[in-house]
Amino acid sequence: MCGIVGYLGNKNTKEILLEGLKELEYRGYDSAGIAVLQDNDFESFKAVGKLINLEEKTKDFITDKFAVGIGHTRWATHGKPTELNAHPHLGNSSYVVHNGIIENYAKLKKELMDEGVVFLSQTDTEVIVHQFEKNLKSAANPFEAFGKTVKELEGAFAILLVTKEEEKTIFFAKQGSPMLVGINAENEKYFASSDTPLIGHCSDVNYFEDGDYGYVTADEIFILDKMDNQKQPHFSKLTQNKLSAQKDGYRFFMEKEIYEQTTVIADTLMGRLGVEEILFDELENGLFDGINEIKLCACGTSYHSALSATYLFERYSKIKTSVEVASEFRYREPIMSKDTLFVVISQSGETADTLETLKMAKNAGLKTLVICNVDNSSMVRLADASILTRAGIEKGVASTKAFATQVTVFWMLSLYIAKLRGSLEAGEIARQITLLREIPVCVKVADSMHEKIKRLSKRYLHGHGFFFIGRDIFYPLALEGALKLKEISYLHAEGYPSGEMKHGPIALADPELFTIALLPQHLLYEKAKSNVEELSARDSTICAISPLEFDKADDFIQISTCQDYMQEFFEMMVVIQLLALEISIRLGNDVDMPRNLAKSVTVE
Ligand code: AGP
Repeated sequence: MCGIVGYLGNKNTKEILLEGLKELEYRGYDSAGIAVLQDNDFESFKAVGKLINLEEKTKDFITDKFAVGIGHTRWATHGKPTELNAHPHLGNSSYVVHNGIIENYAKLKKELMDEGVVFLSQTDTEVIVHQFEKNLKSAANPFEAFGKTVKELEGAFAILLVTKEEEKTIFFAKQGSPMLVGINAENEKYFASSDTPLIGHCSDVNYFEDGDYGYVTADEIFILDKMDNQKQPHFSKLTQNKLSAQKDGYRFFMEKEIYEQTTVIADTLMGRLGVEEILFDELENGLFDGINEIKLCACGTSYHSALSATYLFERYSKIKTSVEVASEFRYREPIMSKDTLFVVISQSGETADTLETLKMAKNAGLKTLVICNVDNSSMVRLADASILTRAGIEKGVASTKAFATQVTVFWMLSLYIAKLRGSLEAGEIARQITLLREIPVCVKVADSMHEKIKRLSKRYLHGHGFFFIGRDIFYPLALEGALKLKEISYLHAEGYPSGEMKHGPIALADPELFTIALLPQHLLYEKAKSNVEELSARDSTICAISPLEFDKADDFIQISTCQDYMQEFFEMMVVIQLLALEISIRLGNDVDMPRNLAKSVTVE
């Protein structure tokens, strides 16, 4: 998640921008920059890494008069974390910062390059400032050029743009990515992508709505809505609690990140869904040449998303696929063949065991791919190819949105490989893509669902343990549900394939054994249902999660009637995440920082 700040006023613009970016550090970033326009003269600074590097670069830069300024912290999605790719991006007389993904950037970039525009970066963002300056040539004024530019963009964006053509003005646009403007008694204007940079500077804020665009000057906030009707800002009092603001008002970062899944999965999909094909412009065509097998390797939750992928790759891509726990793989003297694509999965890109297996595969001469959330991490730098999940920083130690975006990437990758191998008809790929487009909706948390789980969680605070059970791809989801519960509630839980009950585990069945049963309508429902009935018949306390009513359950959480089992997968994923969250909260645990755990296990 990138961070945006903007300022218009007479104070020390550089300090205000840097301070604002510091307040956004919690969102995660790999580079940062600012641009300031004062006395019709631009100064811009960018740095890779932590903000202290940017501060060092700006230490001799003084801003002691009226100025407009914009700043940005970047979480790489298009293009490596480098100074050239850092924002703000420059045209001839304008700078822009942007949060989100411009889905049609490649088309706009090609048109501009064909007209002789020279691009300095690999980013999607840079097209905005060049498109604006192209439109300036024919527009009556800079705002008309800006409005035209905004309407030519597709995707998600929060934009701030400053230009010498209208030097005492900041232009803004909001579509799909958050942004707000704050005011105070000194006629200053503050912009940010979330509340925290404005706390202590502004009394009142206006949260822009999708489609809003306009400009601010010292005396005016001019807003047009998506129908080009002028609208007045709607000011509300700004919270003064920074930590609460960082959590956007949620109780824990984990809760916030569960709710964020609907937006981050939209980012994961952005620019990658064709009509009948998946587009991974970060993958070279030859990556899969000569590949007859895929081996996946990871730890913890990332292992669970990898296990999910084995079902998708063998069912859709018709390619032999296996999965390994990294800590086991690295010591069992595995046989590796060069027709195997070795895929590591890691939210952090730094997990020691997983990183070591990646080195083993490279040393054995295998092609390697990493599915990762952090660009420029050790694994991204080492692998032959990488696909970024675009989940943004994940603060909660218990992984949620990272898992959701990993599975989303694997689903897309299974279709991408299916097209390469001709293992799925174009129509089926198109159908699956239609299902994928619905996933951001599937994972949106309904208040009624959350309330139900909050109430129901009071019954699951004791007992001698939990079984999470599921069949097929719902088995890795059961494993994930058990891990979520274990790591934040400290209650014992195990994930099992539903069909395993009669091979021993059912000996534990009694009223104090809580079984969370995943019963998708569209995948082996009758088989899974009979496994649950085995447990229910032996008086285990059953909590069934299904779109279909199930009368043998003690508790029943109904999800939507979906078109496909993968939509059921994502809906059930949210349920098991919320269940673990609410049980842990009732037990009074530190949900975000569970005992004994670290967010990234960089040691063996
Ligand atoms: C899961 O909630 C944990 N955070 C943990 O299992 C984690 O998935 C594992 O340590 C792997 O981390 P990685 O994805 O950063 O490699």
